[in-house]
Amino acid sequence: MGKEIFMPDEELDLSVNLGGIIMKNPVAVASGTFGYGGEYEGFIDIADIGAVIVKGTTLEPRCGNLPPRIFETPSGMLNAIGLENPGVGIFLQEYLPRLRDQGVTVIANIAGNTIEEYARMAAMLEGNRGIAGMEMNISCPNVKEGGLQFGVDPDMVYKVVKAVKEETSIPVMPKLSPNVSDITAIAQAAEAGGAAALSMINTLMGMAVDVERRKPVLGNIFGGLSGPAIKPVALRMIYQVYKAVKLPILGGGGIMNYIDALEFIMVGASAVSVGTGNFVNPCLARDLVWDLKKYCIANNIKSIEEIRGAAVQ
Ligand SMILES: Cc1cc2nc3c(=O)[nH]c(=O)nc-3n(C[C@H](O)[C@H](O)[C@H](O)COP(=O)(O)O)c2cc1C
Repeated sequence: MGKEIFMPDEELDLSVNLGGIIMKNPVAVASGTFGYGGEYEGFIDIADIGAVIVKGTTLEPRCGNLPPRIFETPSGMLNAIGLENPGVGIFLQEYLPRLRDQGVTVIANIAGNTIEEYARMAAMLEGNRGIAGMEMNISCPNVKEGGLQFGVDPDMVYKVVKAVKEETSIPVMPKLSPNVSDITAIAQAAEAGGAAALSMINTLMGMAVDVERRKPVLGNIFGGLSGPAIKPVALRMIYQVYKAVKLPILGGGGIMNYIDALEFIMVGASAVSVGTGNFVNPCLARDLVWDLKKYCIANNIKSIEEIRGAAVQ
């Protein structure tokens, strides 16, 4: 592999402390787009990435939604995987040890139907060596509250974050849904609940129609839009949240190159995540690390902190 950087970089420190989640560089791979790392082993050394956020994990195994589950759109894609995963038990037994051996920062991603489910998963993850952070996917329907997503109601966000926080010493990072009218109220609720950092943004709800069949394309009818199409929305939301809360932000949504990553950092993100871009270039996260390094050296930047929030007015 070995793409050389022909510049001295001894003084360059790309490491990031994301609310207690220590990353060797600011580039993470987003949940659901990198499996448990194994799928990418033939392409890159995953230890070169700042953090691997694993596929969303639920208490029980899930088979996900009926196909079709993905669909390409202009500048993006729709997905309605439906959280297919083997369950938190198998993650801990089979996937975590393998990731741990590879020396990469691992961030778990949990999703539940009730506050109790989130809390139980947090308790199960607690005490396992090698989990640096716990991303909470709060874009799931709350069964007890009649299907409304946790992530759209500040009061529910506060309660679910607090319940998880009470069960674990691992830094908790709620992942905010962009499908809300006031993202700052959600971010403030997460902060009040005890979040260590915020991850943003998850996918935007969308759909596509097959005009031949006169039916929705996706088996689930609706899906989540990701990729470059959502970048302006993500940037706007991070800009707003950066001004409204003190928590560090993991920013992502449509990042395809290091310039995109810089945009996120300049609106306040402490680190970035790459999702859909992994499907276009499986080496993208590693390439971004190299390119950010080169950018910093060329611009005499010693740490990402020097440019974080630089575009916020
Ligand atoms: C196929 C696919 C599966 C995803 N699965 C999850 C998931 O299990 N949990 C989660 O929190 N986010 C999931 N996401 C959302 C991504 O982690 C990311 O937040 C989103 O795609 C926006 O970033 P991007 O534009 O770089 O892809 C998924 C996205 C895609 C495209």
